Amino acid sequence: MSGQKATGPRMRITLNVNGQNHDIQLDPRTTLLDALREHLSLTGTKMGCNHGTCGACTVHVDGRRQLSCLMLAAAAAGSEITTIEGLQGANGAPHPMQAAFVAHDALQCGYCTPGQIMSAIACIEEGHAGSDDEIREYMSGNLCRCAAYPNIVAAIRDVADTTMAEAA
Ligand code: FES
Ligand code: FES
Repeated sequence: MSGQKATGPRMRITLNVNGQNHDIQLDPRTTLLDALREHLSLTGTKMGCNHGTCGACTVHVDGRRQLSCLMLAAAAAGSEITTIEGLQGANGAPHPMQAAFVAHDALQCGYCTPGQIMSAIACIEEGHAGSDDEIREYMSGNLCRCAAYPNIVAAIRDVADTTMAEAA
């Protein structure tokens, strides 16, 4: 489906992405990943495997991590979708997790990075960042071909520790 111009029946849906509603017409078989990239030009979300095994396409749907290649766009209508483009603060400041990835040099080519960051934020919010082993376990669905894993864990550890300190 990716990049194909659909020629079959079309449907109109409204997607709420990063706080904004978008009315789009698409083939009912369009995935959320393709809707974001091809219809809304939000290309921060990456396609890796397109089969639910690499995590590159991870976004948040109603605050939970979701592989956007495995969800139909139509099924996401009525939900709040957040992509990597929606993370920065109103003043343009990067999200703390984005800043931590930069500070810990947690990326090389950067292709997996948006999915890693979306998953990392959810990992902490789920309460699954209590130890490095737990972080590795709950980030295991996000693959990095550059093998930046030690620095990714360090970045998540940093944000998790800060979050816990602030909550104490
Ligand atoms: S592109 Fe969705 S999991 Fe790989
Ligand atoms: S930084 Fe290159 S794939 Fe992860």
